[in-house]
Amino acid sequence: MELSVNIDHVATLREARKEDFPDPIYAAIEAELGGADGITLHLRGDRRHIKERDLELLIRIIKTELTLEMAPTQSMANIAARVKPHCITLVPESSGEVTTQGGLNLLQVKEDLKLYISELKEKGIVLGIFIDPDAEQVKEAVRIGAQYIEINTTKYSGLKQLKQRNLKDEIIQIARVAKAARREGLKVHAGHGLDYRNIQALLSVTEISTFSIGFAIVGRAVFVGFRQATNEMVRLIKGVK
Ligand code: PXP
Repeated sequence: MELSVNIDHVATLREARKEDFPDPIYAAIEAELGGADGITLHLRGDRRHIKERDLELLIRIIKTELTLEMAPTQSMANIAARVKPHCITLVPESSGEVTTQGGLNLLQVKEDLKLYISELKEKGIVLGIFIDPDAEQVKEAVRIGAQYIEINTTKYSGLKQLKQRNLKDEIIQIARVAKAARREGLKVHAGHGLDYRNIQALLSVTEISTFSIGFAIVGRAVFVGFRQATNEMVRLIKGVK
């Protein structure tokens, strides 16, 4: 199992003061030195944290895989085609949301995503879609040509206060969807709201190949540094004592 570290919230801190630091590029390098297998960033339409400058520098500087989270818009497709990140995860975006709300509902999207995806794949970019843990969404992801899904773990992450039984049910549902995706030949990523505690139980879902984690790592990094915060998560995910 691998870890891709989402560095958006280093940029959130930078933008809080409109300064040129802390720089998400440094965070990415520290994350790699801490053992991250990849770096993820979300270039939002409103550019509230990550900027095009960050994306352009990161693709040249990092040694691991760069995943760009983006809304399926024409302007983002143009940027992606120019910068060519290793992977793209398509996510829904709405103005005013604090963070991504839910997976992309593939049963409802109006855009011609099949064509959109095939044009980006032709550029050599690996295409994934952020979806809720729902087998119908997996079927649709396969139909439109996705190469991986990222299972939205928001519900699972929010269950920490609730009864243990709900937590188990949610893990079972995530495992069911992960298995269905693997049977169809898709790789399975998972993320959103994962932290140093709730990651443990999800490690039982062995179909998941990559975890995408940001906020918990950035929060821990304030106290122990980015390299160590990443390394602590890497050790949990890879089962290193
Ligand atoms: N996956 C997706 C699609 C996201 O939008 C985010 C948040 O940017 C994450 C994973 C990481 O979530 P968190 O910051 O809660 O770890």
